[in-house]
Amino acid sequence: MALALSGCNRRQSTFATFGEEAAAIDHLALVMTIGAVAVAIGVAALMIWAMRARPGALSLRGGERLILIAGGLLPVLLLLVLLGYSLPVMRPRAVAPADMRIDVTGEQFWWRVGYAPPGGNPVTTANEIRVPVGRTVLFRLRGADVIHSFWIPGLAGKMDMIPGRTNELVVRAVRPGLFRGQCTEFCGLSHALMAFDVVAMEPDAFERWLASQRQPAAATAPATAHVGAALFSRYGCGGCHTVRGTGQDGAIGPDLTHVGGRRTIAAGALPNGEEAIAHFIRYPARTKPGVRMPAFPHMSEADAHAIARYLGDLR
Ligand code: CUA
Repeated sequence: MALALSGCNRRQSTFATFGEEAAAIDHLALVMTIGAVAVAIGVAALMIWAMRARPGALSLRGGERLILIAGGLLPVLLLLVLLGYSLPVMRPRAVAPADMRIDVTGEQFWWRVGYAPPGGNPVTTANEIRVPVGRTVLFRLRGADVIHSFWIPGLAGKMDMIPGRTNELVVRAVRPGLFRGQCTEFCGLSHALMAFDVVAMEPDAFERWLASQRQPAAATAPATAHVGAALFSRYGCGGCHTVRGTGQDGAIGPDLTHVGGRRTIAAGALPNGEEAIAHFIRYPARTKPGVRMPAFPHMSEADAHAIARYLGDLR
């Protein structure tokens, strides 16, 4: 019961759709369930009828006909109808020229996200995906290390992210809202903690957000004003992380240029905030076992909080 009720917030539900692809899957599931229930009721009714029938009530000839029609012909017809209904729904839709492209790479255990709007400079972020409502978006999906699987239940079906190849998914969101995506291929110890927020926005708001993401970090958190910025550099955080505009340009871990504006950190594992960031910096594996970020147990709590405050201001 508790597991079933956990789906009730509808942020990660196949039954609370905000995309055309997911709506088609939702409808298909409903039709298939109705068909399956019809078959189950028919079989149960026949079994009850057979168990209650007087011995010898069925002549051999009558019984053969019954088996042929009720046991063979009817199920075949019903299953053919369901198959006929499902094939067009499952067929990959013709890839319409997309309005924009989003490249997502699955890594242990986070998401590298790159926006490639037509005629604009690409923008790299992480662990949060925003899509404009009513626009066709082409997702290009890759795996960096092992196989991951990209799934936003409310938007579309799953698609594997396989190292060495690029899979594509064309989607269109039809209503704004806050949703959740999740890795759905076991990829290591923290597979279950590899999630992301999905924000479907009106196109105008999306364009403004994308423009703000394109800005370097210095616009919102001048490095000179933050003792945390100097500590970020001194502890070598920039060896793995990028904060655009500050000379910190590591490419191994998530881009942190606007990390303060995200709702969560560590790919959905913790709510964003100073306490959570400071804790995660010092002991990342306590939150995410198997994480590739090294621990910083030697870092003082004060330093960790200073860096966390700096990162929180990177909006
Ligand atoms: Cu990535 Cu499971």
